Amino acid sequence: MRLRPVDSGPEEPAAGGRHPGWPARLGPLLVPVGRVALRPPRLLDGGAWSHVRTRDRAHLERWEPTSTVDWADRNTVLAWPGQWGALRGMARRGQALPFVITVDDELAGQVTIGNIVRGALRSAWIGYWVAGDRVRGGVASVAVALATDHAFNVAGLHRLEATVRPENAPSLRVLQKLGFREEGLFRRYLDVDGAWRDHLCFAITTEDAPEGLVARLIGSGRAQRP
Ligand code: ACO
Repeated sequence: MRLRPVDSGPEEPAAGGRHPGWPARLGPLLVPVGRVALRPPRLLDGGAWSHVRTRDRAHLERWEPTSTVDWADRNTVLAWPGQWGALRGMARRGQALPFVITVDDELAGQVTIGNIVRGALRSAWIGYWVAGDRVRGGVASVAVALATDHAFNVAGLHRLEATVRPENAPSLRVLQKLGFREEGLFRRYLDVDGAWRDHLCFAITTEDAPEGLVARLIGSGRAQRP
């Protein structure tokens, strides 16, 4: 058998070429709270991003990485260009697929596919948040479904992992609805909200959803095409 070098394969970006699947605009799909779509982050998102995240501190902070910088300071408008630049750089290098979630064209969260590894693994993690005034309406489910289908069908990935604190009932529900498989418990896995937190690991591979997650959501009546 001829062995293929671990860092090659049909899904590798061409030398000097662009990262497969980036940039991209995905959706829209209709859910009870509105028209949900994904697009690349923009430098001009700073005002809306800062407004939502400053307002939603109580909703978001306990699920996010520990920081020595106060929430207000790390979510000012001035913090966004650095975040945006870092996301754009990772996307351009093929390390991430970072999307802003919009509802009726307004910024309503983020979904990010990160730590993309190619070669024989072709895997990444997925993470997400949704604005507090848009939750419980199917937004995260649509965002994760759109991003997952894109990662598998266009970006050439085979597996996505999501790690969630066992206390995070809404996030667990999102993954269960979409058919992510629970694979185990990672003890003291991430430094979140001031301590090393256990996380449940969920995963999905292309074989688990041959029809795609968007088709699964639409088929279950949870989303519609416009
Ligand atoms: N207990 C049980 N189920 C709940 C609860 C609760 N307290 N609150 C909401 N739910 C259910 C909803 O009813 C819904 O299920 P249903 O459609 O069967 O009724 C489901 O959880 C949520 O599904 P969506 O509406 O698609 O998700 P939503 O847009 O509300 O966003 C999210 C969910 C992203 C977890 C949001 O609550 C959020 O941003 N939380 C803070 C940040 C966060 O936790 N991010 C995820 C971290 S883990 C990770 O990224 C892998």
